[in-house]
Amino acid sequence: MNSNNLDKRYVWHPYTQMKLWNNSDNITIQSGRSFSFVDSNERSYLDGISNMWCNVWGHDRTEIIDSMKNQLDTLPHSSLFGLINEPSAKLAKRLITIAKGMSKVFYTDNGSTAIEAALKIAIQYWNNKGKTQKKEFICLKNGYHGDTIGCMSIGYVDGYFSPYRSLLLKTIKVDSPTIRHEKFGQQDIEQYVDKIENILKRKSQKISGMVMESGAQIAGGVNIYPNKFQKEISDLCKKYDILLILDEIATGFGRLGNMIEYKAQRSEPDIVCFAKALTGGYFPLAVTLTTFKIFNEFLGDYWDKRQLFHGHTFTGHPVGCTAALTNLALYEKVNLIRKIRINSLVLDRLLKRFAELDICYDIRNKGLLCGIELRKENKPIKMIDKVPIGQYIARESLKKGVYLRTLGNIITIIPPLAIGKEDLTKIVDTEYQIVEKIQQKIR
Ligand SMILES: Cc1ncc(COP(=O)(O)O)c(C=O)c1O
Repeated sequence: MNSNNLDKRYVWHPYTQMKLWNNSDNITIQSGRSFSFVDSNERSYLDGISNMWCNVWGHDRTEIIDSMKNQLDTLPHSSLFGLINEPSAKLAKRLITIAKGMSKVFYTDNGSTAIEAALKIAIQYWNNKGKTQKKEFICLKNGYHGDTIGCMSIGYVDGYFSPYRSLLLKTIKVDSPTIRHEKFGQQDIEQYVDKIENILKRKSQKISGMVMESGAQIAGGVNIYPNKFQKEISDLCKKYDILLILDEIATGFGRLGNMIEYKAQRSEPDIVCFAKALTGGYFPLAVTLTTFKIFNEFLGDYWDKRQLFHGHTFTGHPVGCTAALTNLALYEKVNLIRKIRINSLVLDRLLKRFAELDICYDIRNKGLLCGIELRKENKPIKMIDKVPIGQYIARESLKKGVYLRTLGNIITIIPPLAIGKEDLTKIVDTEYQIVEKIQQKIR
Protein backbone atom coordinates (compact mmCIF):
# COMPACT_ATOMS: atom_id res chain seq x y z
CA MET A 1 0.00 0.00 0.00
CA ASN A 2 1.37 3.43 -0.93
CA SER A 3 0.47 5.84 1.85
CA ASN A 4 2.11 8.95 0.38
CA ASN A 5 -1.31 10.09 -0.84
CA LEU A 6 -3.05 9.11 2.36
CA ASP A 7 -5.54 11.70 3.60
CA LYS A 8 -4.67 12.07 7.30
CA ARG A 9 -6.63 15.22 8.11
CA TYR A 10 -9.51 13.58 9.94
CA VAL A 11 -7.60 12.03 12.82
CA TRP A 12 -7.58 13.90 16.13
CA HIS A 13 -4.38 12.90 17.94
CA PRO A 14 -4.19 12.39 21.72
CA TYR A 15 -2.50 15.01 23.91
CA THR A 16 -1.70 17.00 20.73
CA GLN A 17 -2.11 20.64 19.77
CA MET A 18 -3.59 19.97 16.37
CA LYS A 19 -2.87 23.51 15.15
CA LEU A 20 0.82 22.66 15.32
CA TRP A 21 0.35 19.25 13.77
CA ASN A 22 1.74 19.41 10.29
CA ASN A 23 -0.04 16.89 8.10
CA SER A 24 2.56 16.77 5.39
CA ASP A 25 5.49 16.37 7.84
CA ASN A 26 4.27 13.68 10.11
CA ILE A 27 5.33 10.15 9.64
CA THR A 28 2.97 7.42 8.54
CA ILE A 29 3.90 4.07 9.99
CA GLN A 30 3.48 1.35 7.46
CA SER A 31 4.84 -1.70 9.20
CA GLY A 32 6.68 -2.99 12.25
CA ARG A 33 9.97 -4.80 11.98
CA SER A 34 11.78 -6.24 14.96
CA PHE A 35 11.90 -3.42 17.54
CA SER A 36 11.33 -0.67 14.96
CA PHE A 37 8.51 1.12 13.19
CA VAL A 38 8.95 1.44 9.44
CA ASP A 39 7.42 4.38 7.59
CA SER A 40 6.00 4.73 4.11
CA ASN A 41 9.43 5.74 2.80
CA GLU A 42 11.04 2.60 4.26
CA ARG A 43 12.81 4.59 7.01
CA SER A 44 12.87 2.76 10.29
CA TYR A 45 12.63 4.12 13.84
CA LEU A 46 13.82 2.12 16.78
CA ASP A 47 11.18 2.21 19.49
CA GLY A 48 12.64 3.82 22.61
CA ILE A 49 9.34 3.94 24.51
CA SER A 50 7.91 0.50 23.68
CA ASN A 51 4.91 2.06 21.96
CA MET A 52 3.55 3.83 25.04
CA TRP A 53 5.22 1.32 27.36
CA CYS A 54 3.42 -1.81 26.20
CA ASN A 55 5.58 -3.52 23.61
CA VAL A 56 7.51 -6.55 24.82
CA TRP A 57 8.82 -8.54 21.83
CA GLY A 58 8.91 -6.06 18.98
CA HIS A 59 6.59 -6.55 16.04
CA ASP A 60 7.27 -9.96 14.65
CA ARG A 61 6.85 -12.50 17.42
CA THR A 62 5.27 -15.21 15.31
CA GLU A 63 4.09 -17.33 18.26
CA ILE A 64 1.76 -14.54 19.41
CA ILE A 65 0.64 -13.59 15.91
CA ASP A 66 -0.07 -17.22 14.92
CA SER A 67 -2.03 -17.91 18.09
CA MET A 68 -4.14 -14.80 17.47
CA LYS A 69 -4.76 -15.85 13.86
CA ASN A 70 -5.86 -19.30 15.02
CA GLN A 71 -8.19 -17.73 17.55
CA LEU A 72 -9.66 -15.45 14.88
CA ASP A 73 -10.36 -18.53 12.80
CA THR A 74 -12.21 -20.31 15.60
CA LEU A 75 -13.87 -17.59 17.68
CA PRO A 76 -13.14 -13.97 16.76
CA HIS A 77 -15.38 -12.46 19.42
CA SER A 78 -17.48 -13.43 22.41
CA SER A 79 -18.07 -11.52 25.63
CA LEU A 80 -18.47 -12.60 29.24
CA PHE A 81 -22.12 -11.54 29.49
CA GLY A 82 -23.82 -14.83 30.35
CA LEU A 83 -21.11 -16.80 28.50
CA ILE A 84 -17.50 -17.72 28.93
CA ASN A 85 -14.83 -18.64 26.41
CA GLU A 86 -11.80 -20.88 26.77
CA PRO A 87 -9.00 -18.28 26.46
CA SER A 88 -10.53 -15.99 29.10
CA ALA A 89 -10.94 -18.89 31.56
CA LYS A 90 -7.40 -20.12 30.94
CA LEU A 91 -5.86 -16.67 31.21
CA ALA A 92 -7.67 -15.94 34.49
CA LYS A 93 -6.27 -19.18 35.95
CA ARG A 94 -2.79 -18.33 34.69
CA LEU A 95 -2.90 -14.83 36.17
CA ILE A 96 -4.07 -16.08 39.54
CA THR A 97 -1.12 -18.46 39.59
CA ILE A 98 1.37 -15.69 38.87
CA ALA A 99 -0.19 -12.96 41.00
CA LYS A 100 0.12 -14.41 44.48
CA GLY A 101 -2.76 -13.64 46.84
CA MET A 102 -5.21 -12.80 44.04
CA SER A 103 -8.24 -14.97 43.37
CA LYS A 104 -10.50 -13.43 40.73
CA VAL A 105 -9.96 -11.66 37.41
CA PHE A 106 -12.22 -8.96 35.99
CA TYR A 107 -11.59 -8.17 32.31
CA THR A 108 -11.60 -4.77 30.59
CA ASP A 109 -9.73 -3.46 27.56
CA ASN A 110 -7.43 -0.60 28.64
CA GLY A 111 -5.62 0.67 31.68
CA SER A 112 -8.10 3.42 32.53
CA THR A 113 -11.08 1.09 32.53
CA ALA A 114 -9.19 -1.43 34.66
CA ILE A 115 -8.68 1.32 37.26
CA GLU A 116 -12.31 2.52 36.99
CA ALA A 117 -13.41 -1.05 37.68
CA ALA A 118 -11.05 -1.19 40.68
CA LEU A 119 -12.52 2.03 42.13
CA LYS A 120 -16.09 0.77 41.72
CA ILE A 121 -15.19 -2.59 43.24
CA ALA A 122 -13.64 -0.84 46.25
CA ILE A 123 -16.64 1.43 46.81
CA GLN A 124 -19.14 -1.37 46.40
CA TYR A 125 -17.12 -3.69 48.64
CA TRP A 126 -17.61 -1.31 51.56
CA ASN A 127 -21.17 -0.64 50.52
CA ASN A 128 -21.98 -4.35 50.53
CA LYS A 129 -20.46 -4.58 54.01
CA GLY A 130 -22.76 -1.79 55.16
CA LYS A 131 -19.95 0.74 55.56
CA THR A 132 -21.33 3.30 53.14
CA GLN A 133 -19.33 6.13 54.71
CA LYS A 134 -16.08 4.65 53.33
CA LYS A 135 -16.13 6.30 49.95
CA GLU A 136 -13.05 8.51 49.63
CA PHE A 137 -9.74 7.56 48.07
CA ILE A 138 -6.28 8.49 49.21
CA CYS A 139 -3.61 8.64 46.52
CA LEU A 140 -0.11 9.90 45.81
CA LYS A 141 0.75 13.23 44.23
CA ASN A 142 2.37 12.75 40.80
CA GLY A 143 0.41 9.54 40.32
CA TYR A 144 -1.13 8.81 36.93
CA HIS A 145 -3.82 6.19 36.42
CA GLY A 146 -5.51 7.09 33.14
CA ASP A 147 -7.82 9.64 31.58
CA THR A 148 -11.36 8.74 32.65
CA ILE A 149 -13.11 10.72 35.41
CA GLY A 150 -12.22 8.35 38.27
CA CYS A 151 -8.66 7.96 37.02
CA MET A 152 -8.12 11.71 36.71
CA SER A 153 -9.47 12.13 40.25
CA ILE A 154 -6.89 9.82 41.80
CA GLY A 155 -4.10 10.73 39.36
CA TYR A 156 -4.60 14.44 39.01
CA VAL A 157 -2.06 16.17 36.76
CA ASP A 158 -2.72 19.90 36.97
CA GLY A 159 -1.00 20.69 33.66
CA TYR A 160 -3.43 18.43 31.81
CA PHE A 161 -6.62 18.00 33.75
CA SER A 162 -7.57 21.42 35.14
CA PRO A 163 -10.38 21.95 32.54
CA TYR A 164 -12.13 18.84 33.89
CA ARG A 165 -11.67 19.65 37.57
CA SER A 166 -15.34 20.28 38.25
CA LEU A 167 -16.09 16.69 37.22
CA LEU A 168 -13.60 15.05 39.53
CA LEU A 169 -14.12 13.18 42.81
CA LYS A 170 -12.76 14.62 46.02
CA THR A 171 -9.63 12.69 46.95
CA ILE A 172 -6.86 12.99 49.54
CA LYS A 173 -3.49 13.50 47.89
CA VAL A 174 -0.25 12.85 49.74
CA ASP A 175 3.39 13.38 48.84
CA SER A 176 5.35 10.55 47.35
CA PRO A 177 9.09 10.02 47.80
CA THR A 178 11.45 9.26 44.96
CA ILE A 179 14.99 7.96 44.65
CA ARG A 180 17.28 10.75 43.55
CA HIS A 181 20.93 10.22 42.72
CA GLU A 182 20.70 6.76 44.24
CA LYS A 183 20.46 8.27 47.72
CA PHE A 184 17.39 8.20 49.87
CA GLY A 185 17.71 7.37 53.54
CA GLN A 186 15.22 5.41 55.58
CA GLN A 187 14.45 8.47 57.68
CA ASP A 188 13.07 10.27 54.67
CA ILE A 189 10.68 7.45 53.93
CA GLU A 190 9.47 7.56 57.49
CA GLN A 191 8.57 11.22 57.12
CA TYR A 192 6.32 10.40 54.18
CA VAL A 193 4.85 7.34 55.82
CA ASP A 194 4.20 9.21 59.08
CA LYS A 195 2.29 11.90 57.21
CA ILE A 196 0.11 9.26 55.58
CA GLU A 197 -0.45 7.52 58.91
CA ASN A 198 -1.53 10.79 60.51
CA ILE A 199 -4.19 11.20 57.84
CA LEU A 200 -5.36 7.61 58.21
CA LYS A 201 -5.57 8.00 62.01
CA ARG A 202 -8.05 10.83 61.56
CA LYS A 203 -9.91 9.78 58.43
CA SER A 204 -9.77 6.03 57.87
CA GLN A 205 -13.47 5.69 58.72
CA LYS A 206 -14.22 7.61 55.53
CA ILE A 207 -11.53 6.13 53.31
CA SER A 208 -12.28 3.27 50.97
CA GLY A 209 -8.80 2.67 49.61
CA MET A 210 -5.29 3.84 48.94
CA VAL A 211 -4.46 3.90 45.21
CA MET A 212 -0.90 4.00 43.95
CA GLU A 213 1.28 2.80 41.13
CA SER A 214 3.31 -0.24 42.07
CA GLY A 215 7.08 0.24 42.26
CA ALA A 216 7.31 3.57 40.48
CA GLN A 217 5.30 6.44 39.09
CA ILE A 218 6.12 6.75 35.41
CA ALA A 219 3.94 9.46 33.84
CA GLY A 220 4.36 11.61 36.96
CA GLY A 221 8.09 11.99 36.23
CA VAL A 222 9.74 8.56 36.57
CA ASN A 223 9.65 8.56 40.36
CA ILE A 224 11.05 5.27 41.62
CA TYR A 225 9.98 4.48 45.17
CA PRO A 226 12.70 3.96 47.75
CA ASN A 227 12.97 0.50 49.27
CA LYS A 228 10.24 -0.43 51.75
CA PHE A 229 7.99 2.54 50.96
CA GLN A 230 5.33 0.42 49.29
CA LYS A 231 5.56 -2.24 52.00
CA GLU A 232 5.03 0.34 54.71
CA ILE A 233 1.98 1.70 52.90
CA SER A 234 0.67 -1.83 52.56
CA ASP A 235 1.10 -2.40 56.31
CA LEU A 236 -0.69 0.88 57.06
CA CYS A 237 -3.65 -0.11 54.87
CA LYS A 238 -4.06 -3.29 56.89
CA LYS A 239 -3.67 -1.49 60.20
CA TYR A 240 -6.34 1.10 59.36
CA ASP A 241 -8.66 -1.24 57.45
CA ILE A 242 -8.55 0.42 54.07
CA LEU A 243 -8.04 -1.35 50.75
CA LEU A 244 -4.73 -1.20 48.93
CA ILE A 245 -5.32 -0.77 45.19
CA LEU A 246 -2.14 -1.16 43.17
CA ASP A 247 -1.73 -0.04 39.60
CA GLU A 248 0.75 -2.33 37.81
CA ILE A 249 -0.49 -1.25 34.40
CA ALA A 250 2.89 0.14 33.41
CA THR A 251 5.18 -1.64 35.88
CA GLY A 252 3.78 -5.20 35.90
CA PHE A 253 5.37 -8.01 33.86
CA GLY A 254 8.96 -6.91 34.08
CA ARG A 255 9.38 -3.16 33.59
CA LEU A 256 11.30 -2.83 36.85
CA GLY A 257 12.90 -6.26 36.55
CA ASN A 258 10.18 -8.19 38.38
CA MET A 259 7.32 -10.22 36.95
CA ILE A 260 4.89 -9.07 39.64
CA GLU A 261 6.09 -5.83 41.14
CA TYR A 262 3.97 -5.92 44.30
CA LYS A 263 5.58 -9.21 45.27
CA ALA A 264 9.05 -7.72 44.83
CA GLN A 265 7.95 -4.76 46.97
CA ARG A 266 6.64 -7.20 49.62
CA SER A 267 3.27 -5.47 49.57
CA GLU A 268 -0.14 -7.16 49.74
CA PRO A 269 -2.79 -5.48 47.61
CA ASP A 270 -6.50 -6.17 47.81
CA ILE A 271 -6.94 -5.16 44.19
CA VAL A 272 -4.33 -4.94 41.43
CA CYS A 273 -4.57 -3.84 37.79
CA PHE A 274 -2.50 -4.96 34.80
CA ALA A 275 -2.63 -3.96 31.12
CA LYS A 276 0.06 -2.70 28.67
CA ALA A 277 2.56 -5.63 28.56
CA LEU A 278 -0.16 -8.21 29.27
CA THR A 279 -0.50 -9.01 25.55
CA GLY A 280 2.97 -7.79 24.63
CA GLY A 281 1.20 -4.84 23.01
CA TYR A 282 -0.54 -7.04 20.44
CA PHE A 283 -4.11 -6.44 21.64
CA PRO A 284 -5.89 -3.99 23.96
CA LEU A 285 -6.61 -5.98 27.10
CA ALA A 286 -6.60 -5.14 30.80
CA VAL A 287 -7.42 -6.94 34.03
CA THR A 288 -8.45 -6.02 37.56
CA LEU A 289 -7.59 -8.76 40.03
CA THR A 290 -9.01 -9.09 43.53
CA THR A 291 -8.63 -11.32 46.56
CA PHE A 292 -11.36 -13.67 47.80
CA LYS A 293 -11.94 -11.28 50.69
CA ILE A 294 -13.15 -8.66 48.21
CA PHE A 295 -14.95 -11.01 45.84
CA ASN A 296 -16.92 -12.77 48.57
CA GLU A 297 -18.64 -9.54 49.60
CA PHE A 298 -20.26 -9.45 46.15
CA LEU A 299 -22.06 -12.77 46.64
CA GLY A 300 -25.76 -12.97 47.48
CA ASP A 301 -29.18 -13.51 45.93
CA TYR A 302 -30.02 -11.74 42.69
CA TRP A 303 -32.30 -9.18 44.32
CA ASP A 304 -29.75 -8.42 47.05
CA LYS A 305 -28.06 -6.30 44.37
CA ARG A 306 -24.60 -7.15 45.66
CA GLN A 307 -23.29 -8.03 42.18
CA LEU A 308 -20.79 -5.78 40.44
CA PHE A 309 -22.65 -3.54 38.04
CA HIS A 310 -19.85 -3.06 35.56
CA GLY A 311 -18.87 -4.61 32.23
CA HIS A 312 -17.68 -3.64 28.79
CA THR A 313 -18.56 -4.94 25.33
CA PHE A 314 -15.10 -6.41 24.83
CA THR A 315 -14.83 -8.08 28.23
CA GLY A 316 -12.79 -11.30 28.08
CA HIS A 317 -12.06 -10.90 24.37
CA PRO A 318 -10.86 -14.34 23.19
CA VAL A 319 -8.26 -12.95 20.76
CA GLY A 320 -6.76 -10.68 23.44
CA CYS A 321 -6.78 -13.45 26.05
CA THR A 322 -5.07 -15.80 23.58
CA ALA A 323 -2.41 -13.18 22.87
CA ALA A 324 -1.84 -12.77 26.62
CA LEU A 325 -1.59 -16.54 27.20
CA THR A 326 1.02 -16.92 24.45
CA ASN A 327 2.85 -13.83 25.66
CA LEU A 328 3.07 -15.12 29.24
CA ALA A 329 4.18 -18.56 28.04
CA LEU A 330 7.00 -16.87 26.11
CA TYR A 331 8.12 -14.96 29.21
CA GLU A 332 8.69 -18.31 30.86
CA LYS A 333 10.15 -20.06 27.81
CA VAL A 334 12.90 -17.48 27.26
CA ASN A 335 13.25 -16.46 30.92
CA LEU A 336 12.54 -12.88 29.96
CA ILE A 337 12.81 -11.52 33.49
CA ARG A 338 16.41 -12.73 33.67
CA LYS A 339 17.15 -11.04 30.33
CA ILE A 340 15.55 -7.80 31.55
CA ARG A 341 17.72 -7.87 34.67
CA ILE A 342 20.87 -8.37 32.62
CA ASN A 343 19.89 -5.57 30.23
CA SER A 344 19.07 -3.33 33.15
CA LEU A 345 22.75 -3.55 34.17
CA VAL A 346 23.72 -2.68 30.59
CA LEU A 347 21.38 0.33 30.71
CA ASP A 348 22.80 1.36 34.06
CA ARG A 349 26.32 1.34 32.60
CA LEU A 350 25.29 3.23 29.46
CA LEU A 351 23.69 5.96 31.55
CA LYS A 352 26.81 6.77 33.54
CA ARG A 353 28.06 9.11 30.79
CA PHE A 354 25.05 11.40 31.17
CA ALA A 355 26.15 12.40 34.66
CA GLU A 356 29.07 14.32 33.09
CA LEU A 357 26.67 16.69 31.34
CA ASP A 358 25.82 19.75 33.45
CA ILE A 359 22.20 19.89 32.32
CA CYS A 360 21.51 16.33 33.55
CA TYR A 361 20.07 17.19 36.91
CA ASP A 362 19.03 13.66 37.75
CA ILE A 363 19.08 10.20 36.23
CA ARG A 364 16.57 7.75 37.64
CA ASN A 365 16.53 4.17 36.46
CA LYS A 366 15.46 0.70 37.50
CA GLY A 367 14.96 -2.37 35.33
CA LEU A 368 14.21 -1.07 31.85
CA LEU A 369 12.76 2.22 33.02
CA CYS A 370 14.78 5.41 32.86
CA GLY A 371 14.13 9.12 33.29
CA ILE A 372 16.79 11.75 32.61
CA GLU A 373 15.80 15.12 34.03
CA LEU A 374 17.21 18.19 32.29
CA ARG A 375 17.65 21.48 34.13
CA LYS A 376 19.66 24.62 33.78
CA GLU A 377 20.62 26.48 36.95
CA ASN A 378 18.19 24.22 38.76
CA LYS A 379 15.23 25.25 36.61
CA PRO A 380 13.50 22.82 34.23
CA ILE A 381 14.54 23.42 30.62
CA LYS A 382 11.34 24.21 28.75
CA MET A 383 12.23 25.44 25.26
CA ILE A 384 14.97 24.77 22.71
CA ASP A 385 15.09 26.81 19.49
CA LYS A 386 11.67 28.27 20.42
CA VAL A 387 10.16 24.78 20.44
CA PRO A 388 8.95 22.95 23.60
CA ILE A 389 11.80 20.69 24.70
CA GLY A 390 9.70 17.53 24.37
CA GLN A 391 8.92 18.28 20.75
CA TYR A 392 12.52 19.19 20.04
CA ILE A 393 13.83 15.91 21.47
CA ALA A 394 11.14 13.84 19.71
CA ARG A 395 11.99 15.43 16.34
CA GLU A 396 15.75 15.13 16.77
CA SER A 397 15.39 11.48 17.79
CA LEU A 398 13.24 10.69 14.76
CA LYS A 399 15.87 12.29 12.54
CA LYS A 400 18.36 9.85 14.05
CA GLY A 401 16.04 6.88 13.61
CA VAL A 402 14.76 6.57 17.18
CA TYR A 403 11.18 7.06 18.40
CA LEU A 404 11.03 8.78 21.78
CA ARG A 405 8.73 10.95 23.84
CA THR A 406 9.61 12.97 26.93
CA LEU A 407 7.67 13.94 30.03
CA GLY A 408 8.31 17.68 29.74
CA ASN A 409 11.97 18.14 30.63
CA ILE A 410 12.40 14.46 31.52
CA ILE A 411 13.62 12.19 28.73
CA THR A 412 12.20 8.73 29.15
CA ILE A 413 13.86 5.59 27.90
CA ILE A 414 11.34 2.77 28.25
CA PRO A 415 12.33 0.23 25.60
CA PRO A 416 10.52 -2.96 24.57
CA LEU A 417 11.20 -5.48 27.33
CA ALA A 418 12.90 -8.08 25.13
CA ILE A 419 15.15 -5.57 23.39
CA GLY A 420 18.72 -6.64 22.63
CA LYS A 421 21.91 -4.99 23.86
CA GLU A 422 22.74 -3.44 20.50
CA ASP A 423 19.39 -1.71 20.05
CA LEU A 424 19.42 -0.54 23.66
CA THR A 425 22.86 0.97 23.13
CA LYS A 426 21.70 2.75 19.98
CA ILE A 427 18.75 4.33 21.82
CA VAL A 428 20.88 5.55 24.73
CA ASP A 429 23.70 6.80 22.47
CA THR A 430 21.21 8.74 20.35
CA GLU A 431 19.80 10.39 23.45
CA TYR A 432 23.26 11.22 24.66
CA GLN A 433 24.08 13.00 21.40
CA ILE A 434 20.84 15.00 21.63
CA VAL A 435 21.41 16.01 25.25
CA GLU A 436 24.97 17.02 24.39
CA LYS A 437 23.64 19.20 21.55
CA ILE A 438 21.05 20.79 23.86
CA GLN A 439 23.79 21.58 26.35
CA GLN A 440 25.82 23.34 23.66
CA LYS A 441 22.78 25.30 22.47
CA ILE A 442 21.77 26.69 25.86
CA ARG A 443 25.26 27.40 27.15
C1 LIG B 1 0.33 3.54 35.63
C2 LIG B 1 -0.72 3.71 34.59
N1 LIG B 1 -2.00 3.48 34.90
C3 LIG B 1 -2.99 3.62 34.00
C4 LIG B 1 -2.71 4.01 32.71
C5 LIG B 1 -3.83 4.19 31.72
O1 LIG B 1 -3.78 3.19 30.74
P1 LIG B 1 -4.50 3.44 29.33
O2 LIG B 1 -3.72 4.47 28.62
O3 LIG B 1 -4.45 2.09 28.67
O4 LIG B 1 -5.89 3.87 29.63
C6 LIG B 1 -1.40 4.28 32.35
C7 LIG B 1 -1.07 4.73 30.99
O5 LIG B 1 0.01 5.15 30.67
C8 LIG B 1 -0.38 4.14 33.31
O6 LIG B 1 0.91 4.39 33.03
